[in-house]
Amino acid sequence: MAKPKGTTAERVTVVGAGYVGLVTAASLADLGHQVISMDIDSERIGRLQDGDIPIFEPGLAELVEKNRPRLTFTDDPTVAYADSEFIYICVDTPPTHSGDADLSRVWNVVDNLPPQDGERILVIKSTVPVGTGAVIRNELNRRGYEHIHYSSNPEFLREGTALQDFMRPDRIVVGADDPTVARKVASLYDAIETELVLTNVASAEMIKYASNAFLATKISFINEIANVCEATGADVTTVAHGMGLDPRIGPHFLQAGIGYGGSCFPKDVSALKQLAGNSGYHFQLLTAVIEVNELQKRRVIGKIKEALGEDLHDRRIALLGLAFKPNTDDIREASAIVLAGRLLAEGARVVAYDPVAIPNTRAVLPAVEYADSALQALEGAEACVLVTEWPEFIHLDWERAADLMQKPLVVDGRNALDPDTLRRLGFRYEGVGRKP
Ligand code: UDX
Repeated sequence: MAKPKGTTAERVTVVGAGYVGLVTAASLADLGHQVISMDIDSERIGRLQDGDIPIFEPGLAELVEKNRPRLTFTDDPTVAYADSEFIYICVDTPPTHSGDADLSRVWNVVDNLPPQDGERILVIKSTVPVGTGAVIRNELNRRGYEHIHYSSNPEFLREGTALQDFMRPDRIVVGADDPTVARKVASLYDAIETELVLTNVASAEMIKYASNAFLATKISFINEIANVCEATGADVTTVAHGMGLDPRIGPHFLQAGIGYGGSCFPKDVSALKQLAGNSGYHFQLLTAVIEVNELQKRRVIGKIKEALGEDLHDRRIALLGLAFKPNTDDIREASAIVLAGRLLAEGARVVAYDPVAIPNTRAVLPAVEYADSALQALEGAEACVLVTEWPEFIHLDWERAADLMQKPLVVDGRNALDPDTLRRLGFRYEGVGRKP
């Protein structure tokens, strides 16, 4: 359904001033709504009040500044809930040791909802297992909170392009068991022209999990094809191009590499697998998707050993990129972390450079040496692994790099470099699933 333009301004409270919460709060304010962003972390709120945005997302600081008249920050629930009709839940739902989603922060919000003073709509953006909405609804009823309506409105934001994903989404999904509530939530987005999916809560919850699981499956699939390409002499970049021309397959998310990371895919795939398992269904395909992704990160070590020999003790190995993808300082579930950990365990000297993710990585991997530039990391190295395809690595002075390295070996974990150019410069080039 294409939606008409124009929005009625509403009062919205967004609980959670993390990645999703801040993008949601700033974007809803930009759509014309009056927004209060609330977080229990008073230090974070203090910084936000001073205009200091605690996360790295292109354009977010500017959007917050632009919408100051409609966007305020508080750590005080009384202020936050004073008179908003919509309460968005944007808290994180990290994985537990069992792979289930930890919903304690969601419950914390539910436990502290305002007293019974008029109708509100609870809109959950956090990714929660299918069935969570029904459990929360029952609990609200049990506590006498029938005046609080419930809706699921999953986010599909990619880090680095979150603002445009919010304003120009492929679809907006709103699930509510009362269609009037679903339409009310959808009306907040009236100014956005896109496909609207109005459904029940369980289906909305599942759309989010199924979408991320499918995308992760696509990546693991192409990574396995790449591994077979290596064994058979085919080139996965050409294979992916040829496959992607079929509109039933499509060209996106077919880039082979050293595996997916980030705050969403690993957590959501594992949560969906657990959810299925908890309901008595063994989701075989996702078990394989996860395993392929884990093994993919480690295959790099094999490639380095093939070139340098089995003993990596004291060998200097450079990692270019630490973030799970470019344009973010996020290292959650980043392939670099596993890779660096494995190399250190083999006794290698790991030197790393990333334009923005070094402070985050230093905190979890103090044994890695951190360089001030890509070329400095490469100096004296016997191998270099391109882990994150930051543009500055693609446009690096590779001729100079060849001079600086002890042995010019590049393992291109993202198939981002041009093999012919590098080979011409004297490099041994190893991509993922590319012709030797
Ligand atoms: C993802 C989803 O895209 C988004 O819709 C959801 O709301 C949150 O999770 P994000 O985690 O920001 O967003 O990253 P994305 O750009 O999707 O990339 C995820 C990972 O997959 C990265 O590690 C990336 O390097 C990897 N990837 C992506 C591949 O290895 N190959 C591809 O073809 C695409």
